[in-house]
Amino acid sequence: MATYNNLLLNLQNGILIITINRADKLNALNIDTVTEIKNAIQQVYDDAEIKGAILTGAGPKAFVAGADITEIAELSEVTARSFAERGQEVFAMIERSNKPVIAAVNGFALGGGCELAMACHMRVAAENARFGQPEVNLGIIPGYGGTQRLTQLVGKGKAMELMMTADMINAQEALQLGLVNHVVPQEQLLEKCGEIMGKILSKAPLAIGLVIECVNAVFNKDENGYQTEANAFARCCASEDFVEGTSAFVEKRKANFTGN
Ligand code: COA
Repeated sequence: MATYNNLLLNLQNGILIITINRADKLNALNIDTVTEIKNAIQQVYDDAEIKGAILTGAGPKAFVAGADITEIAELSEVTARSFAERGQEVFAMIERSNKPVIAAVNGFALGGGCELAMACHMRVAAENARFGQPEVNLGIIPGYGGTQRLTQLVGKGKAMELMMTADMINAQEALQLGLVNHVVPQEQLLEKCGEIMGKILSKAPLAIGLVIECVNAVFNKDENGYQTEANAFARCCASEDFVEGTSAFVEKRKANFTGN
């Protein structure tokens, strides 16, 4: 079992709440924290008790205010490449998880924080949340997948503007852009995420995992998403949950899915 110095993990009703816990540094992602996020997501992959995860930040002010600038300042061309690749690998693990991962954005989501939120399957923002990719202020660009995922989520023109101006946007603007799914008062943030998660977890887990896989296929240039979808559809139809779901409909009762 991995130990955590920078994360708090709390399993409630099958939902692992992962809290990045460096509030005095606005939860900035140092390398140790990125490693701990990897370990926590590995636990989500491996532990059958965990059905989904919610990622959030400690304190009322920040989700994550970026990668840790004190560490970034020390990077060379060689170490910077592996730094970016390592972060990208961890964030891709989140994106590819076949269990749902929701970002509960409770404040600043800047740089690596915005990138972390974007790697999750959806985002719910507190009213005080602020989003931005301010890397050009530091003479760098996003390195944890931000140039790709921001463009996927908000489109090319807006992504260009946000990354080139380093402007911060508020939760309502992020909602209008499709960067977040919902905006709620801060005190309702985890409750709203739990409500969405509860709905998802009441469905057939295999089907949920395959929705994630097929949507991700849209953005994989080497994959024919339609073929991925047809194959996934076929896998669903070979499952016990498919028999249960269709029988429950005919019998006018609630389906009881087992994940098989
Ligand atoms: N890396 C390292 N430390 C960070 C950090 C980051 N990305 N963001 C905040 N911190 C630290 C600050 O240095 C400060 O530490 P200190 O108390 O030891 O001096 C602490 O967190 C609180 O931040 P502070 O700047 O005092 O809060 P603020 O309310 O005045 O400003 C922000 C909030 C988010 C606007 C500001 O912290 C900021 O611009 N952070 C960097 C954002 C960024 O560029 N992220 C992308 C990095 S690639």
